[in-house]
Amino acid sequence: MTTNRGQFGSRLGFIFAATGSAVGLGNIWGCPTQAASNGGAAFLLVYLVLAFALAYPVLMAELILGRHTHGNSVAALTGIANRGLTRTIGALTGLFGIVVASLILSFYAIVAGWMLGFTVSYPLNVLGMESAGNWLTEFSTSRNLSLMAIFMVMTVGIIMGGVKEGIERWSTRLMPTLIITLLLLVAYVLTLDGAMTGLKVYLIPDFSKILSSQLILSALGSAFFSLSLGVGTMLVYGSYIADREHLPSIGAQVALIDVGIAVLAGFLILPAMYVAAERGVDIFSASGALLSEDTLIFTVLPELFATLGTAGVVLATAFFFLMSVAALTSSISMLEVPVAFIVERFSWSRRTAALLMGAAIGCMSGLIILNFETLFGAVIALSTRYGQPLLGLLLCVFVGWVWQRNSLLAELEKNDPNVRHGLFWKIWPVYVRFVCPVIIAIIFYRSLA
Ligand code: TRP
Repeated sequence: MTTNRGQFGSRLGFIFAATGSAVGLGNIWGCPTQAASNGGAAFLLVYLVLAFALAYPVLMAELILGRHTHGNSVAALTGIANRGLTRTIGALTGLFGIVVASLILSFYAIVAGWMLGFTVSYPLNVLGMESAGNWLTEFSTSRNLSLMAIFMVMTVGIIMGGVKEGIERWSTRLMPTLIITLLLLVAYVLTLDGAMTGLKVYLIPDFSKILSSQLILSALGSAFFSLSLGVGTMLVYGSYIADREHLPSIGAQVALIDVGIAVLAGFLILPAMYVAAERGVDIFSASGALLSEDTLIFTVLPELFATLGTAGVVLATAFFFLMSVAALTSSISMLEVPVAFIVERFSWSRRTAALLMGAAIGCMSGLIILNFETLFGAVIALSTRYGQPLLGLLLCVFVGWVWQRNSLLAELEKNDPNVRHGLFWKIWPVYVRFVCPVIIAIIFYRSLA
């Protein structure tokens, strides 16, 4: 079964690919402002603890399961079940994950298309092509459709290349680019007037805010989205890891880098917002909270860039380029979920599977764009608020309860014969069996209420 499958060429290649999946729009547009509005460094601390206490165990469940079965998500979940009924539930769970991954990609590609549009619009404006530049940044069906299609073609192009020549190669190019661009942007923005105020708001801890259960639940939700959990992305990437690699430490590195980049993004976003405030841009909503998400990215920051002259053009281009790169290394990991399944289940060629799935998901995106008001928010809620936690729960149940302990242990012993005496084996299995399902169930219940 493992002969024709791709495999990551090196540990570093895997780390770039997995952090590429994890680091995406979520890190940059959600986490920093959430932190600033909710207790600053205190929130970051909670986020870090939660990422390790809850998201890391689920990440490990996906990676270990994927590596053990060396198969797509349906094959993996049916592979560890030995009874008819659990096999059927496993297959349905895997399929549900594939559908949710595709739905997430269908809205993600629209937003990523906007990032591409903004990246190109700044240089175009400098060249005097303002009407093209405006078309790229103003909301319209034709713009949304064209940019989404371009982004989808890029995603499909990389996935057609395969695990090593596509995913690994491009992640290894794009992730260092992303980190360097982010560091340069942070360094520059910190020199501007007002930046230090933003830094203070970001970092001065206010422990009174973090005790709210609502906040903890929402931090958990973002940790889940940020680590790309639930839908089988990490499971499929895990299935391409060589048996010699030590999964618990690789997983920890991925989680650390993901959280680290979210924290680093805060050193860009918060100072930039307060620089903008210094220049007369409104950075608070009517309710007094910091503006966040799409308003932050597409209104507040562009207003700031506009006040900075030539430097603003360079800064803006670099910033939206950064967002586009972050989106692309995430979108390829979403498309890989259905493609891996189709290639292995129906023996299609990777090219055909990538093209057809890309086209199908692109049609779904098109449908969302044509019915933007009704579908955009609904698809996001359906896939991330309901689909992801539910899948995370099922996954923990499978790894914690269905998968035989001995086989699980044998998988971990492949590269660490002493694993049974270590801390990971003492804590993690219990966690995945009891703690994770309960916490996820609570989050899920709360999001329904
Ligand atoms: N983690 C990415 C982000 O922060 C998005 C992402 C990639 C994702 N693959 C996923 C989210 C799978 C959920 C499921 O933007």
